Amino acid sequence: MGAGIAQVSAQAGFETLGREVSDELCERARGTIEHYLGRAVEKGKLTAEERDAALGRLTLTTELGDLADCDLVIEAIVEELEPKRETFAELERVVGPDAILASNTSAIPIAKIAEATEHPERVIGMHFFNPAPVLPLVEIIRAEKSSDEALDAAYEWAEQAGKQPVRANDTPGFIVNRVLVPTLNECIRLLDEGITPEDLDKAMTMGVGWPMGPCALVDLVGVDIHIHAAEAMYEATGDERAKPPERLREMAAAGRLGRKTGHGFYSYD
Ligand code: CAA
Repeated sequence: MGAGIAQVSAQAGFETLGREVSDELCERARGTIEHYLGRAVEKGKLTAEERDAALGRLTLTTELGDLADCDLVIEAIVEELEPKRETFAELERVVGPDAILASNTSAIPIAKIAEATEHPERVIGMHFFNPAPVLPLVEIIRAEKSSDEALDAAYEWAEQAGKQPVRANDTPGFIVNRVLVPTLNECIRLLDEGITPEDLDKAMTMGVGWPMGPCALVDLVGVDIHIHAAEAMYEATGDERAKPPERLREMAAAGRLGRKTGHGFYSYD
């Protein structure tokens, strides 16, 4: 999702620095962004000049230290608490005193990430939805110690970036995943009763007007990401509805993570 968020930022006119862990992943992120900006030009939604200007505002780096001058850092690393805590502690040593540190986590409590910092008041959640350049929503999440200034600045930034922010609490799953994770789990459990992914997806798109069916959506989000979000919610609430279905664990163990690996419920080129 990092590439999608960087695209949103650069397209909205902000000088944007994306950090990846290797040169190869930097190149892949730039390629993805170029691809989607190119498609927007083809469809007449963006001029070639606007595309070039957006790409000109985007720099990619592998060095965390290069983020020193950023006013807002939006973290979108692996969905695990410890690496996030380490990243936030390191970020705090790198950025200026007024910089806001936001996490794009799907379900990890922001307060637990903030505990790793000396100034938890600057730590908030900014949760985007996949694909970030397309879905308008951003949940602005208030953790126990988040300051009003940080939350207001993030809300304003999201609006300037053309997004639709909402204010959410640091409760398991925030707003959307609180509803979406148990709902998707329930959909996946239907497959154990002999329903096919094709029929399930057809039912939810044709019958309820979802833009894509639940299996296609889990493939888009990533089977591993959905499992992490579901586990975090299950741990926090004990709610059986949040528990990741066994079928998803088996898919993850087999490396069928969805679109990103070319296979999930469906196969992708
Ligand atoms: N990056 C940038 N743009 C993208 C993109 C991406 N990854 N994927 C698609 N797009 C753009 C396309 O360029 C296209 O733009 P135009 O309309 O200007 O041509 C537009 O999105 C539509 O794409 P497509 O024509 O390829 O396909 P579509 O019309 O079937 O739409 C979809 C695809 C946008 C994914 C749509 O099916 C949809 O909105 N699905 C629901 C997705 C959803 O629910 N996301 C939330 C997941 S939950 C989450 O993210 C939270 C979490 O914590 C896990």
